[in-house]
Amino acid sequence: MTDPVLSMKDAELTLSGNAGPVEILHGITLDVAPGETLGLVGPSGSGKSSLLMLMGGLERATGGSVAALGHDLTALDEDALARFRRDNMGVVFQSFHLIPTMTALENVAIPLELAGHADAHERAEAQLEAVGLGHRSGHYPGQLSGGEQQRVALARATAPHPKILLADEPTGNLDAANGGQIMDLLFDLRDRHGATLIMVTHAPELAERCDRVVRLSDGRVAA
Ligand SMILES: Nc1ncnc2c1ncn2[C@@H]1O[C@H](COP(=O)(O)OP(=O)(O)OP(=O)(O)O)[C@@H](O)[C@H]1O
Ligand SMILES: [Mg+2]
Repeated sequence: MTDPVLSMKDAELTLSGNAGPVEILHGITLDVAPGETLGLVGPSGSGKSSLLMLMGGLERATGGSVAALGHDLTALDEDALARFRRDNMGVVFQSFHLIPTMTALENVAIPLELAGHADAHERAEAQLEAVGLGHRSGHYPGQLSGGEQQRVALARATAPHPKILLADEPTGNLDAANGGQIMDLLFDLRDRHGATLIMVTHAPELAERCDRVVRLSDGRVAA
């Protein structure tokens, strides 16, 4: 068997809220194979976004283990984690996290530059073109609609051709035509670059295209 790209064993996440600790994820055991597309579904509050954060090393497991590409994410320090993400992962958050003082083009190009791509500018333009936003590249996030911001975030996450792409509701704010275009872009990343895709989604048409769907319920993998 090939080694999994992502491997979680009994992963736990407990966060400290105002009213004391909140147990968010319980005993999550999950392997994701190279090139697999995994859909994460489940009711609001079931822990889908939190699980994605654990997989991306953006939250640290409070128990169990989380490994990506053979690296134990719970053992890396913040700098090493940031480098690991930069070199291997693309993340699209539910709330996009675009930098408000940078244009759409800069939001996509700057991370490419930081990762050492000599063709950062051209690649960023091509990727914005691919999400249907070539004509909006000079706009700031505040001047873009929710769906347009989402597409900039997707362009930013996919442009470096990450080995692992984590996306939270990547088609959540989009109409059928734009959603379809984004799905094609994501699956193209798998087909042409062998990326492993892990996507939270409520959209049946996206879940259907995934190799496997994992359902969460109250912070656990449901049977
Ligand atoms: N920083 C935090 N502190 C305390 N509790 C949190 C924190 N972040 C999330 N939670 C709680 O953890 C649970 C899981 O949240 P999460 O965002 O992972 O759900 P979700 O499945 O992504 O939901 P949705 O479909 O609405 O996006 C929720 O009950 C939420 O209130
Ligand atoms: Mg969520």
